[in-house]
Amino acid sequence: MSPTSSHGVQLDLVERPFTERGSRLLVTAAPDGLRVARAEYETPLADTTELTALVLRDASGHPLPVRSATPVAVEFTGGAALLFADPATLVLAGHGARASWRLPDGTGRSLVLDGCHVLHGPPGEWSPPAVRAAAEARWADWFDRMPPVRPDLTGCARTAWWTLAVNLLPFAGREGLVPSKYGYLGVWNWDALFHAVALRHADPALARDQILLLLDHQLPDGRLPDVVHEHGVLADTTDLPRADHARLAEHVGSANGARPERAPVPVTKPPLAAWAVWKVHETDPDLPFLAAAYPRLVRAHAWWFAASDPDGDGLPEYLHPYSSGLDDSPVWDYGPRAEPPDLNSYLALEADRLADIADALDRPAEAAGWRGRAAAHTDLLVARRWDGTRFTTLAAGAPVPVRTALDLMPLFTGRLPTGIAGALERTLRSPAYWGDRPVPTVAFDDPAFDPEAMWRGPVWLNINYLLIEGLRRSGFPGTAAELRERTLAMVRDAGGLYEYWNPLTGARAPRATSGFGWSAALFVDLAAEG
Ligand code: GLC
Repeated sequence: MSPTSSHGVQLDLVERPFTERGSRLLVTAAPDGLRVARAEYETPLADTTELTALVLRDASGHPLPVRSATPVAVEFTGGAALLFADPATLVLAGHGARASWRLPDGTGRSLVLDGCHVLHGPPGEWSPPAVRAAAEARWADWFDRMPPVRPDLTGCARTAWWTLAVNLLPFAGREGLVPSKYGYLGVWNWDALFHAVALRHADPALARDQILLLLDHQLPDGRLPDVVHEHGVLADTTDLPRADHARLAEHVGSANGARPERAPVPVTKPPLAAWAVWKVHETDPDLPFLAAAYPRLVRAHAWWFAASDPDGDGLPEYLHPYSSGLDDSPVWDYGPRAEPPDLNSYLALEADRLADIADALDRPAEAAGWRGRAAAHTDLLVARRWDGTRFTTLAAGAPVPVRTALDLMPLFTGRLPTGIAGALERTLRSPAYWGDRPVPTVAFDDPAFDPEAMWRGPVWLNINYLLIEGLRRSGFPGTAAELRERTLAMVRDAGGLYEYWNPLTGARAPRATSGFGWSAALFVDLAAEG
């Protein structure tokens, strides 16, 4: 580790930009020099560029290239540095070097450094040593909180831990973790829950904030929104950003998502909030938090049965691709509603977690009621959707042939009859799903399998994480351990916290974003187990 407290994290200024907790500013490298852009909801960085072509030269005009970039500073040859003085302020510190850059209107700026110059942000006087010392102290504090992991995972875990910090931004009175400063600027529903799972190890209050931020925006009907962003929430199809209309039309044809103005459809994400609340509580018991969350979680659970079960068979469906969290999954090739077996598995598990919460709040009768519901719901799922060999996925009310990793998710309930749980575990271990890098989101031998297309084959860490838990809960600790090990190795060897990975090569899928929050969060959580 370098003496300048890089904490083992090197920024390449491409996948890993120079940025800061609480800041929307991203510094990246381009052939003509460094550029600074602002990350905003559903806006390409090209539209929010603040300056480009930042280069430093010595007195004779020779370029002074970037020598290293760490969470603390971008260091130039010759001693100058770029630092965050605060989340809104980037300063250039140094003496004698000439800095030049271009503004978006095409005009150029240049000056000879002599102390601390505010490159972007409100005017102010800053002392270079104080700015550097503060940055070092901030990062030392953050890295000190990282849970310990074994040596071969340390490098990747530190990058993941850095990712979690820089993805934190102020939202609606709290600090929320965005999925990626490249493209996902908001607090997404189930992402926030996965982020909370990692933050509980370092800062349980911040973990609770991720969940509360979501619960604070519950709709009057009980639904939790898909996204909380700086302009409001995305909670039905009338809220969808314009770019999504065309994209959705490709995938769901004439589904309502393609025509938001005609028929608003609620948009949410898979129900896992009680699961996350309980995980945070287990790490850092907090009864007032449970008491505040419980009634809201109860209403959120009820919403699925009241508003998202169009055929009224007691097994809710996703009414929109976004609500499934697997927007581009081939289950959506068959129509605008879908019921893969994950949804009702989550709802059963949520009932068990609501029981745990009710017990902790000393409401034993309610707890017993929830446990009864968890059992009954699992029984209903088995009775209606187990066809003797697999759990069927319905799309627009009819069974579809596509086989996805979600078919295995009933393991998550921990309540399946032994024979069925065993059959699912064997399917997972079969060539359809098992390989060096399980679990493909679509079975390897399914005609829809595509190793690089979003949700149509690549490995996603949240699915693996939920399956690992499900395997443990269903009595397969050995397979859970192997899946955990293969998942950690895949992420470590690919070298980045990507959104999803090609299961055949283990490489980043080309369209996957980097610096992805739940990949960072769940990698850390899995790695922290020892
Ligand atoms: C993509 C994913 C969805 C996730 C969102 C934010 O849309 O499909 O599951 O919540 O990105 O990361």
